[in-house]
Amino acid sequence: MTQHTDKHDSPDTDLKPAFIYATTRDWEGYFKAIDGREPRPTLVDALDRFDTEPSNGPRFAIDLGCGEGRDSAALLRRGWKVHAIDGHPDGIRRLVSRDDLDDPTRLTMQLAPFESVELPSCDLLNASFSLPFCSPEHFDEMWSKIVASIRPGGRFSGQFFGDRDSWASIADRSHHTSEQVAQFLMPFTVEFMKEEERKGEDCDGTKKDWHVFHVVARKNAD
Ligand SMILES: C[S@@+](CC[C@H](N)C(=O)[O-])C[C@H]1O[C@@H](n2cnc3c(N)ncnc32)[C@H](O)[C@@H]1O
Repeated sequence: MTQHTDKHDSPDTDLKPAFIYATTRDWEGYFKAIDGREPRPTLVDALDRFDTEPSNGPRFAIDLGCGEGRDSAALLRRGWKVHAIDGHPDGIRRLVSRDDLDDPTRLTMQLAPFESVELPSCDLLNASFSLPFCSPEHFDEMWSKIVASIRPGGRFSGQFFGDRDSWASIADRSHHTSEQVAQFLMPFTVEFMKEEERKGEDCDGTKKDWHVFHVVARKNAD
């Protein structure tokens, strides 16, 4: 099984670590703090797996909770068509303004909340560090839409957040046990799974315990 390391959220400048902005949903601060970051390893892992399989033409990905577009830009560079969705206008604005978008005619964008988004059929649904920000009362419905949108043989890449993560105590966050994550992934064959649990970083008195499931999974035939 592949192992990843991801440098979450250490500051590039004198900005605070990105997680501090995400804690309070200060997305403009978050986007500034992660400016210039590489694509998420779970996305790269999924793309590498697709590259070993035959394709009739450009594949189609949804980047759900795309933020400022680190993953959408990587998908375009790797020849994919991309539908990038985010609930914050600054994310969409930053994505469209990026100077590293390879053939932007393959990119469509949508400003929409997870709680009511409609998802077209896709080869890959990528949700990097975005799922916990769906409100808990809408999570199951959103996950059902995600599963339905991925064609058989397509993939999910992204993160679920665990019940021992610091943010689990915030009322509007969606966190899950390992048993729940396993249940969510029943329609899939899990190709990569890393349960990451580490004690908090400490910055300006702010601590954060991480409990994150990093996942790449291939959807089973119906
Ligand atoms: C932690 S950021 C992750 C961004 C990017 N995928 C990445 O890996 O860096 C979470 C993203 O989810 C978006 N988001 C948060 N809550 C949302 C909601 N309810 N509906 C739609 N987007 C939301 C934020 O605007 C933000 O871009």
